[in-house]
Formats: sequence, C-alpha cells, structure tokens
Amino acid sequence: MGHSVSSIELLSIVLLVSRILHPKTISFAFCQSDVNVNCIPSEREALIEFKGGLTDPSNQLSSWVGKDCCKWTGVSCNNRTGHVFMLNLRNSNADDLEGNGAMDALGGEIKPSLLHLNDLNYLDLSGNNFGGIPIPDFIGSLRKLKYLNLSGASLSGVIPPSFGNLSNLNFLDLDNDLGESNESDLRWLSHLSSLKYLNLKGFDLIKASGYWLEAVNVLPSLKELHLPSCRLSNLPSTFPFINFTSLQVLDLSNNGFNSAIPYWLFNISSLKYLDLSSNNLEGQLPAFESMKSMRKCNSSSLETLDLGYNEFTGKLPSSLGYLKNLRNLQLWHNSFQGSIPASIGNLSSLEQFYLGDNKMNGLTESLGLLSALVYLDLSENPWEGVVTETHFVNLSSLKELNFNQNSLNVSLVFNFSSDWLPPFKLRISDTFPDWFWGLNLQVDELDVGSNQLSGKVPNSLSFRESSTVDLSSNLFVGALPLWPSNVTKLYLNDNLFSGAIPGDIGEVMPSLTDLDVSRNSLDGRIPLSIGNLIELVTLVISNNNLSGEIPEFFSHLSMLWIIDMSNNSLSGPIPRSIGSLSFLKFLILNENNLSGRIPPTLQNCTLMDSLDLGENRLSGNLPSWIAKSMTSLLTLRLRSNSLVGKIPSDICGLSTLHLLDLSHNNLSGFIPPCIGNLSGMSFALDNITERYEGQMSVVTKGRQLEYMNTLFLVNSLDLSSNNLSGDLPGQYLDK
Ligand SMILES: *[C@@H]1O[C@H](CO)[C@@H](O)[C@H](O)[C@H]1NC(C)=O
Ligand SMILES: *[C@@H]1O[C@H](CO)[C@@H](O)[C@H](O)[C@H]1NC(C)=O
Ligand SMILES: *[C@@H]1O[C@H](CO)[C@@H](O)[C@H](O)[C@H]1NC(C)=O
Ligand SMILES: *[C@@H]1O[C@H](CO)[C@@H](O)[C@H](O)[C@H]1NC(C)=O
Ligand SMILES: *[C@@H]1O[C@H](CO)[C@@H](O)[C@H](O)[C@H]1NC(C)=O
Ligand SMILES: *[C@@H]1O[C@H](CO)[C@@H](O)[C@H](O)[C@H]1NC(C)=O
Ligand SMILES: *[C@@H]1O[C@H](CO)[C@@H](O)[C@H](O)[C@H]1NC(C)=O
Ligand SMILES: *[C@@H]1O[C@H](CO)[C@@H](O)[C@H](O)[C@H]1NC(C)=O
Ligand SMILES: *[C@@H]1O[C@H](CO)[C@@H](O)[C@H](O)[C@H]1NC(C)=O
Ligand SMILES: *[C@@H]1O[C@H](CO)[C@@H](O)[C@H](O)[C@H]1NC(C)=O
Ligand SMILES: *[C@@H]1O[C@H](CO)[C@@H](O)[C@H](O)[C@H]1NC(C)=O
Ligand SMILES: *[C@@H]1O[C@H](CO)[C@@H](O)[C@H](O)[C@H]1NC(C)=O
Repeated sequence: MGHSVSSIELLSIVLLVSRILHPKTISFAFCQSDVNVNCIPSEREALIEFKGGLTDPSNQLSSWVGKDCCKWTGVSCNNRTGHVFMLNLRNSNADDLEGNGAMDALGGEIKPSLLHLNDLNYLDLSGNNFGGIPIPDFIGSLRKLKYLNLSGASLSGVIPPSFGNLSNLNFLDLDNDLGESNESDLRWLSHLSSLKYLNLKGFDLIKASGYWLEAVNVLPSLKELHLPSCRLSNLPSTFPFINFTSLQVLDLSNNGFNSAIPYWLFNISSLKYLDLSSNNLEGQLPAFESMKSMRKCNSSSLETLDLGYNEFTGKLPSSLGYLKNLRNLQLWHNSFQGSIPASIGNLSSLEQFYLGDNKMNGLTESLGLLSALVYLDLSENPWEGVVTETHFVNLSSLKELNFNQNSLNVSLVFNFSSDWLPPFKLRISDTFPDWFWGLNLQVDELDVGSNQLSGKVPNSLSFRESSTVDLSSNLFVGALPLWPSNVTKLYLNDNLFSGAIPGDIGEVMPSLTDLDVSRNSLDGRIPLSIGNLIELVTLVISNNNLSGEIPEFFSHLSMLWIIDMSNNSLSGPIPRSIGSLSFLKFLILNENNLSGRIPPTLQNCTLMDSLDLGENRLSGNLPSWIAKSMTSLLTLRLRSNSLVGKIPSDICGLSTLHLLDLSHNNLSGFIPPCIGNLSGMSFALDNITERYEGQMSVVTKGRQLEYMNTLFLVNSLDLSSNNLSGDLPGQYLDK
C-alpha cells in the first residue's frame, strides 16, 4: 500500500513539473475554464492603464474592451479566485522581419500598473520592441512570478538588482537582442533558488567575471544556463563542488575565455549540450575516459559538443570515443593536429562532424562506420595518405561532404576500386571539389543536379555502359563537357555553358539516347554529327543562341520522340527529313527565324501530339493535311507566321485538340462553324492526363513535366489577328 501511495505522489510531482515546463499547457487549461470567472475590477483598471502606455500599431489588443478582462487576448485568470494569473503578449512573429514581425510588435512604455496584478505568475513580453528602454525595475516586485520572458524585446540597461526578490522564478529569459547593455552584476541571482532556466544572453556581466560561477552554483535546480556574449572572460580551472547537478544545457559561447578547458565541466553528468564556441580557449582536450571513472554512469550524456572557433591544439584524444551519445561534434576553426582517432567509429549516433579549418593530416578508416553521419566537414586541413572506399563504407546517411581545400596543398591519394558504388547520394555545396574530378572512378550515374556548383567541368571521369550524367541546374561554365562512348543520358541544361555544341558529339558519344543542353549560352551551329546519334530519343537544345540552318540530318534518327529547338536564332527551312521520324510526338521549333513552307513530309509524323512552329517566318498555305494525318494532336501552335489560306474544316475532327493557336497570320475565309465541336476543348483535365500518362514513358527528364503542363493545363483557341470572317462559337468568346 505504502508503495503505491508514494508512486501517486511521485506522479503528481511529475505532472506539476511538466506543467511548468510547458507554459502553453497552463494557458490552455486556464483559458478553457475562464468561462465561470469574472475579472476583478481593480485588475481590469490596471490592465487598461498598462495598455495605455503601449503602442500597438496592428491593434493586437483590440479585444481589450468590455468588463471581463479574463477573456482578453493574452490574459488568463485563476478559475477559482478570478485573479489575473498570466499575461502572455509574446510577439511570435518577431523573427519574421520582412513580414509582420515589426508591425505586430508592441512598444512604448511598460507601466507599473502591473503591480496591481497580485497573483501574476507568468509574464511574457518577448519579441516586442520597446526601443532600448531599460528593463523596468518594478518587475522585481512581481513576487509571484514563476515565468518571466523579456527575450528579444529590445530592452536594455542593467538587469535590475530587484530581480533578487523574484524568489519563485522558474524561468527567466532576458535574451538581449540589441547587443548593447550596461554592466550588470549577478549578486541578485543567489535568491532565485528555484530557477530551472536562465538566459542572460548579451547582457554585459564583466563585473561578475570573478564570481559568476559561484553565483550560478547556488541554483541546484538549474537545467538550462545560457550566458553567451556576456563578457565573462574568466572560466575557473578548478571548481570544488558542483551544485547544479541537473544541468542539461550550458551555453557559454562568445565570452572571451582564454584559459585551458576546465575538466570539471565534463563532470556534470546530466549535461547534454555544451557550447564553448567562439572563445579563445587553448591547450589540449581532456581525456574523456576520466569522466567515465568519476561517475557511476558509464557513458556521458553529451549530445552536442561545440568547441569551434577557439585555439585548441594537440591531438584529438582517443577518449572522444567514450562520448557515445554524441550527435553533433563541432571542432572547426582550431589548431587540432594529427589523425582522427580510430575510436571515432564508436560514435554510432554522430550526425554532424565539423573538423574544417584545423591542422589535421590523418584520416581514419573507422570514419566509414559512422552510419548516422549526415554532414561531414573535412575542409581546410593538410590531409595526407590514401583514401579508400573503406573510409566511406557505411556512410549511408551522408548528405553533405565538405572537402574543399582552397588554401592548402593536399597530398591525398584517392584509391577506389572501379566497381565501387558510394553508399550515399551527396548534396555537394560550394564549388565542385577538384579532387573529385581527379578520382579515377568509373561511375554508373553522376547526379549532382540542382546544386549551386560552379566552375568548369573537366572530362576526366569515365562511365560504365548506359550511364547517366546529370549536371543540370547548376552554375557550371566553360565549354560543354563530353564523355567518351558509354553515357546514354546527358543532362547539362540550366547552366552557364557557352561556346558551340562540340562538332564531334556524334562521334564521341554514340550511345546517347537523351540530350538536353537547353537554357545555356550556347552559340554557333547545330553540328551535323548529331545525325550519327542513331539511338537518340530526345533532342532538347532550346533557349540558347544557336544560329544557322537546322541540318538535314534526321533520316537516321528514327527513334526521335522529342525535338525542342525553340527560342534560338535558327533560320532557313524546316528540314524535309523530319518526315522520316515516324515516332515523333513533339516538334517544338517556336521563336526562331525559320522560313519557307511547312514541309509536306511532316504528313508522315502521324503520332504527333504537339506541333509548335509559332513565332517564325513561315509562309505558304496552312496545310490542309495537318488534321488528316496528325489525328492525335493535342496542341497546334502556328501563331505569328505569314501563313495564308483557309482554316480547313478537317480541324474540327481533331477530337483531342485542346490548344489551337493560329493567331497573327494572314488566314482568310470563314471560320468553320464546326470548330465549336472540338471535343478535346471540353475534356476534363483529369481525363486527359489519365489518357496520356501511360504513353509518355520515354520522355527526357524534367521535360516531361514541362510538356505535360503545356498539354494539359491549357484549353484555348486563338484565331485572332487574321482576315477571318464568321463568328467564334459562343463558348470561346471570353477566352
Ligand atoms: C480550475 O482549474 C483547474 C486546473 O486546470 C481544474 O482542475 C479545476 O477543475 C478548475 N476548477 C473550476 C471550478 O473550473
Ligand atoms: C521566450 O520567448 C521566446 C520567443 O519570443 C522563446 O523562443 C523562448 O523559448 C522563451 N523562453 C522560455 C524560457 O520559454
Ligand atoms: C547605461 O549607459 C549609458 C551610457 O553608456 C548611460 O547613459 C545610461 O544612463 C546607463 N543606464 C543605466 C541604467 O545605467
Ligand atoms: C526586494 O525589494 C525591496 C523593495 O522593493 C528592496 O528594497 C530590496 O532591495 C529587494 N531585494 C532584493 C534582493 O533585490
Ligand atoms: C548549493 O545550493 C544550495 C541551495 O541553493 C546552497 O544552499 C548551497 O550553498 C550551495 N552550495 C554551494 C557549494 O554553493
Ligand atoms: C568530479 O566529481 C567527483 C565527485 O563527484 C570529484 O571527486 C572529482 O574531483 C570531480 N572532478 C573534477 C575534475 O572536478
Ligand atoms: C554500465 O555498464 C554496465 C556493464 O558494462 C551495464 O550493465 C550498465 O547498464 C551500464 N550503465 C549505464 C547507465 O549505461
Ligand atoms: C570503442 O569500442 C570498442 C569496442 O566496441 C572498445 O573496445 C573501445 O575501447 C572503444 N573505444 C573508445 C575510445 O571508446
Ligand atoms: C554497416 O551498418 C550496418 C547497420 O547500420 C551494419 O549492420 C553493418 O555491419 C555495418 N557494416 C560495417 C562494415 O560496419
Ligand atoms: C565503357 O564501359 C565498359 C564496361 O562498363 C568499360 O569496360 C569501358 O572502359 C567503358 N569505356 C569508357 C570509354 O569509359
Ligand atoms: C514516310 O514514311 C514512309 C514509311 O514510313 C517512308 O517510306 C517514306 O520515305 C517517308 N517519307 C519521308 C519523306 O521521309
Ligand atoms: C472522359 O472522357 C470521355 C470521352 O472520351 C467521357 O465520355 C467521360 O465522361 C470523361 N470522364 C470524365 C471523368 O470526365
């Protein structure tokens, strides 16, 4: 019996604590029960007066009218006594600087009328903008406060010593967003023995440099201590007795500490997060195994260790391997040297490892065991030795590898076997690493599309049969790279490649099935040798500055399915040999200077889905055979040419047509009345999508969507700017 009673007690303590830890829960609970209580008139007056001091540009407090102040935005009352218990006026849009953040901010004066709220437990004014006024002294007299959040509220001055009266406080967050404050001391802190959370970021505590640790040490319940950018400068090397044995988060970054790292820090067994970055800490790291023996617990709870931007020297201790729960290890910008210890392989939870900008020269094969690793930064170190696939063997989670060595001569030898398949697919940042191009790799697929990669692409990689190279949507410059023989799909579109398409492309890459070099800055003529690419299915060279005539080279390209040469400066006639492409579905030649007639040989292309010859200088009759031979046309665009003649009434038979644009020509005669019967125009979107989905399995990557969009999202008929007579059927009049 006794046993079960005490578990119930324990449970209620846990509930209480979790309430306090999640203030929102409290607010919700009390808001709900507000229905039965009435606001106490003197407290209502106090709130009205408080509101009078505030500026409220976007009228956040518009609900602060009427009698029942317990129903006002941000106000919660105790459901039994009716006293205001909580005032939560946090500006949660504070981070949204571009949008409403500034607009929503309250400002002005914080009036001491709040002192009439006798039961105020919770005060949150964070994220507002009080324009640098000092933290009001009177807040120190709100003795019942358990939660006080003034973070990011543009308050300044000194931390009022009267805060020493807030002995019930559990949470104190004064995170100073202004980066300027007057020198505060910390003697007031000793009375706040219930504190669980303390954040004084950005307050100048230089006066407390000599005793800040003693001041904090009387707070046995402290779980989070944030004192970054406080000018503390002195981190005692010894500390006799650690009182704050529940501490989980310790942030002492950017304080100018310039000693060795004190060992007692690693004696805080509950610590999960330790940030000492951006100080001037020096010397070697401690041997972490001593931590193990000093405590009953075998392994440290540390999950984040940030020692970046200091002046540490010496080797990385092998005992790092004892920090088994580590997920984020930041050691960058120090002077660590030697090899990564083999014990690193024991850190099976490690997700981020930053070692950039040090003096390390040795990698370890056990790096390859870090199967949880997502980000690995090995940049800017004078690495030596041989890198093999073992170094990467189990890095199956790896997403980003930074191996940039801009300022260093790296003497690494990369030795990978030719059939190695990396276990990860990288997103590589910055410039594409030169060492990568230097690898003597044979790869199946190189996919680095949609990164921010820049620089030139050398031709040194080799590929196995039927491989894909996707460098699309990057910032690559220079000549179009070609790789001999084995590449079948080459996507170089959306880059900054310039110069001509290499004249020998047809000889160098005979296996190409898909070529997309669109949206670059290519000029010159279309090389004749493309006519040798007999397996070519998609040829997309649109949106460049290509000029000259389209070669008569189609007679051997019998597999072609998509031709897109739009938006170039191509001139001359449309080649007759296109008529030999009996599988052609997309012929997109718009926005060029093509002239002459539409070649009658196109009658052979009976599978055509989309014919776009718009914005050229084509002349002659609008061919009457189009509708007879291309019976499955979805879109027909011939706009802005010099076509003459009548609109053949056969067009009405194109049952799937839903984009017809013949505008800006010299067409004459009557608009065939049957044009109102074009049934494709009335298809529901889903219906058409569904019908054509199965047919377009072989379409160049990325293009598929684009063509689909044109095909399925538009239902339109444009015959304007011709010499036509007759009326459009009613349903098109407003299109
Ligand atoms: C008052 O609130 C508490 C805590 O939310 C709840 O347990 C209690 O039932 C409420 N009392 C009334 C009278 O609403
Ligand atoms: C204080 O408010 C800010 C938002 O303005 C929030 O991010 C922070 O977590 C709050 N502090 C505490 C201790 O709840
Ligand atoms: C803070 O310092 C400024 C000058 O740096 C001074 O004008 C101001 O009075 C000080 N404020 C307080 C509260 O000490
Ligand atoms: C507590 O408040 C009283 C009166 O406001 C003040 O005189 C006293 O100095 C305060 N105590 C501390 C520790 O700040
Ligand atoms: C530990 O904290 C308690 C409670 O605040 C305090 O009484 C005691 O002096 C502290 N011990 C040390 C060594 O600071
Ligand atoms: C760590 O704590 C143990 C007792 O908890 C103590 O004996 C030891 O001296 C402490 N070590 C350091 C470096 O403070
Ligand atoms: C400590 O190690 C022992 C044996 O290696 C193990 O049984 C025990 O569960 C470990 N304790 C903790 C807290 O990890
Ligand atoms: C790493 O783990 C192995 C076995 O799992 C153990 O023998 C070795 O001592 C560990 N090394 C460190 C530094 O933790
Ligand atoms: C790689 O990791 C998997 C599980 O993540 C494990 O089963 C396998 O043994 C590891 N391989 C090596 C070589 O460590
Ligand atoms: C093409 O692939 C084959 C087999 O994968 C390989 O033996 C050959 O070396 C490759 N050729 C080139 C030029 O990479
Ligand atoms: C049209 O196609 C037929 C057979 O598919 C072929 O014999 C003929 O040469 C083609 N005409 C042209 C102009 O290519
Ligand atoms: C799909 O199109 C057919 C005509 O081909 C029509 O009979 C059918 O009702 C359409 N279905 C939907 C859901 O629109």
